[in-house]
Amino acid sequence: MFFADQPDTAFAPLPRLADDTGAVGKPRTRRTGRAKVTGTAAYTAERDGKHSPESFPGLLHAVAVPATIAKGRVTAIDASAAEAMAGVRHLLTPANSPKLKVPSGPPGLGFQSVEPAGPAGAESQEIVHAGQYVAAVIADTFEAARDGALAVKVSYEADPNPLIAVESVNGTQERPKSLMGDPPVMEEGDAEAALREATLRVDQQFKTDPNHHNPIEPHATIAVFGKGEDGGETLSVRDTTQNLYGTRSSLAEAFGLKPEQVEVVCEYVGGAFGSKGVMWPQALLACKCAKLAGAPVKLVVTRRQLYGGTGYRSPTLQRVALGAKEDGTLTSIVHEGFTVTSIRDDYSDAVVMATKILYAAPNRRLAQRMGRVNTQLPTFMRAPAETPGMFPLECAMDELAEAAGLDPVELRLRNEPKEDPTTGKPFSNRQFVRCLQAGAERFGWADRPLQPRQRRDGRWLIGTGVAAATYPAFGFPTEVELTIRADGGVRALCATHELGTGTATVQEQTAADLLGVPAGRVTFELGTTAYPKGGVSGGSATTLSVGSALRDAAEKLKAALLKHAPKDSPLAGAKPADVTFASGKLVVTESEKGLPLEDLIEQSGREELSARGSYAPGKSDYSKHSFGATFVEVGVDEEFGLVRVRRMLGCYACGTILNRKLGRSQFLGGMVMGIGSGLLEVTHHDTRLARWTNDNLAEYHVPVNADVPDLDVMWIDDPDFNASPIGAKGIGEIGITGVNAALANAVWHATGRRHRSCPVTPEMVM
Ligand code: MOS
Repeated sequence: MFFADQPDTAFAPLPRLADDTGAVGKPRTRRTGRAKVTGTAAYTAERDGKHSPESFPGLLHAVAVPATIAKGRVTAIDASAAEAMAGVRHLLTPANSPKLKVPSGPPGLGFQSVEPAGPAGAESQEIVHAGQYVAAVIADTFEAARDGALAVKVSYEADPNPLIAVESVNGTQERPKSLMGDPPVMEEGDAEAALREATLRVDQQFKTDPNHHNPIEPHATIAVFGKGEDGGETLSVRDTTQNLYGTRSSLAEAFGLKPEQVEVVCEYVGGAFGSKGVMWPQALLACKCAKLAGAPVKLVVTRRQLYGGTGYRSPTLQRVALGAKEDGTLTSIVHEGFTVTSIRDDYSDAVVMATKILYAAPNRRLAQRMGRVNTQLPTFMRAPAETPGMFPLECAMDELAEAAGLDPVELRLRNEPKEDPTTGKPFSNRQFVRCLQAGAERFGWADRPLQPRQRRDGRWLIGTGVAAATYPAFGFPTEVELTIRADGGVRALCATHELGTGTATVQEQTAADLLGVPAGRVTFELGTTAYPKGGVSGGSATTLSVGSALRDAAEKLKAALLKHAPKDSPLAGAKPADVTFASGKLVVTESEKGLPLEDLIEQSGREELSARGSYAPGKSDYSKHSFGATFVEVGVDEEFGLVRVRRMLGCYACGTILNRKLGRSQFLGGMVMGIGSGLLEVTHHDTRLARWTNDNLAEYHVPVNADVPDLDVMWIDDPDFNASPIGAKGIGEIGITGVNAALANAVWHATGRRHRSCPVTPEMVM
């Protein structure tokens, strides 16, 4: 999973990738783009017959009733007013709630084990967070259900002392649990002693605020129970998910079904950023409502409810201490993190992860603790470890550069490790130095004054800042089916996801190059558990996992096709290792002689030939990460506390860029979200009520066009076949990493004041 070890082998470069059809790398436009901008793309909540090919006769609508207290219990639910309202059909409460088993969730990750409107049959419900679903109203229309839900009166016995802000539980010693892989705790040498003895020392406390993901499409589920051909129960679900197979196994476990009895469909994910990586209680609630009503039910989480039931980014407190020699060479790195999790389940952002690999140092101590608060379960949010975790590290590096009288780019160059500094493994392909140097050159970094507060433009103080970017090259077990038809067309199927990134378009290009056919002949289909297993589309892992499975499938297709090679053809007797796909043919590599693919299919006497391909991560001899550098220029108006981004440049090294238009879009998206992380996004907690106060898009500030200047993206094009069989590494998350630190560093350079709390907001700058 997210922090698991990676594959065993280093892969030889693809013989044909990027040299035959040349499909890889081309800036193809997302083929789903038109459907989206014309409004014909059917998102989950729109798959109701009016906007989608399938329809669900008798579809009812459910709206959840969320708890308004954070800790205590429900003493009574009065639905008399709601039940009298036109269109209201049912009220779901623990009293009539269908029985289910709360699923354990993906291995190693605690599930939000808070049963919605449950536990079924219980006299009273325990409340552990505000926003917990205590009941639901089922009605003929969404409007009737919403009005009904608002009319339900819930009485509580509230515990006046909920556990709330991160500071209040900071004394906790609990080690983070259910992190996938090693807990981020390690000590090499004696880091504190080396720190005490260091010539140069930075030792600071940092804070990052909680964030909410705010996808434009809130979480939604359409649940339909039915009967299978064998008379057994079936469950068909439309769900907003980055994890079709994970949702299927969770639902199967919940309702005592076999996975094959459950179907999950998600053709378009309307934004996710990690918030749809695990199944959330709204899916269980929708299924409960469908069972109770005996009809298909659609349940859409409202924007407000999205703040209380579907995950968020944990606040953090962190200490980073750096010791160095006079020349800036690090002698010690200490990084301690403190995060929160929910009362019942475990999730913790592994904030010290990047500190394992970024810089060389003989002494290093990494540690993390977490505490429990009365909120919903925190979850992955774009670069869950690195976005909060690199803020203190990269700000501290800037402070060390100041202490050493060094340029911050130069300081980083002086601390470049030869191999992974904690495992000793070689990097699969690092390129951090090249990203720093190429980025600095294009950004025009060279003439930057070392001292702060040196530049002005009218009322604006001008400053520039830099920070590292990095993200691990994760992969998840993935299977694909690859088919060549008699007409020469190619079809690839995988239960992976379209998060807005252009998954299908990119994989059509990959399959095209693997099979030596034009990309226009390939159709890639995704979005349903009817297709072979895809992994969670998180951890920036989809492209390399799916593409690598396609490479395996293409190899297997060689064997399938060779079986049908006529005895008198150049392919007769050839082994899969001897042949290559090229220019629409399968040819003997040496002689370049062979047969068109469609001729081989015809020889088989079938309409098409298919092969299953798979990819699975395992142990690796390499330390596999993407790297990059972010440069920003800000203007600061101290009177109004305004920080405006004037320019930003990101330079990245992520292996093969399979589509340069969509790749650029991914980097841009990460950088824009970084502006949110560094300057705007914070969810405020009311410390008396343990409730989020700005639970809407008017008060939760995300970057809008006026906040985003021209952004410059560049990359080092250098396929990394040590990292994946297609030379690609993830690009979805690296763009956000380090942007918040680069911004805080630029604010210091403009004003001479350090801000160690993220985001840097106007009241801090004034
Ligand atoms: Mo990403 S936060 O791993 O969906």
